[in-house]
Amino acid sequence: MIQGTHVHALDVVFLKRFSLLLAFLAAVGVGLILAAHHLNATMAHPADPTITRNTDNRIAPIGEVYAGATGAAQQAAAAQAAQAAAAANVPFGGRTDGAEIFNNGPCTACHTGGVGGAPKLDATGIGARVASQGIDELIKKAIAGFTGSTGTMPPRGGVAGLTDDQIKATVEYMVAQSKK
Ligand code: HEC
Repeated sequence: MIQGTHVHALDVVFLKRFSLLLAFLAAVGVGLILAAHHLNATMAHPADPTITRNTDNRIAPIGEVYAGATGAAQQAAAAQAAQAAAAANVPFGGRTDGAEIFNNGPCTACHTGGVGGAPKLDATGIGARVASQGIDELIKKAIAGFTGSTGTMPPRGGVAGLTDDQIKATVEYMVAQSKK
């Protein structure tokens, strides 16, 4: 019993002191919280760069974000359309078949019958001209057009869409025919 009482008394003392200690620590804790709160309120807060970036992204104009892609798509479509139009505008689908171009194109109208002084596809016509000037000169003049002593040869026979290669092939055909 005596020992029990003794222990009980010690317990009470311990509890009192421990309670005081707890109260003191609690007070320190509250003090720290208040101090931290105060410090936080007085400190300057630099903007969080991540938040700033996210905000900028969020309020960035949508048009600007998509302008690049839209412009590129439009350019690609325009380029494709231009290419398709060019292909459609090149006579004979761009083929360089001299016989086809001469007979189905503008050339035959003048050169088969010698209309307007156009040299025919024979020895005295184109044959004589290639002999005196050489085929490269004939090609050059057929492309550029010229007015000579017998009449006027329109540039590319009047069909501007004919390519240099097509005129070259046609003149080569005319020269070959004139030798037959
Ligand atoms: C409207 C009529 C006409 C048409 C169409 C025409 N030519 Fe001619 N061409 C002429 C005449 C006229 C000359 C001769 C001009 C002269 O020497 O005075 C000539 C000359 C030429 C010559 C000779 C050039 C030289 O240096 O002597 C060549 C090559 C020729 N034409 C190629 C062509 C070809 C290729 C075509 C078709 C793409 C064509 N021509 C369509 C009227 C025409």
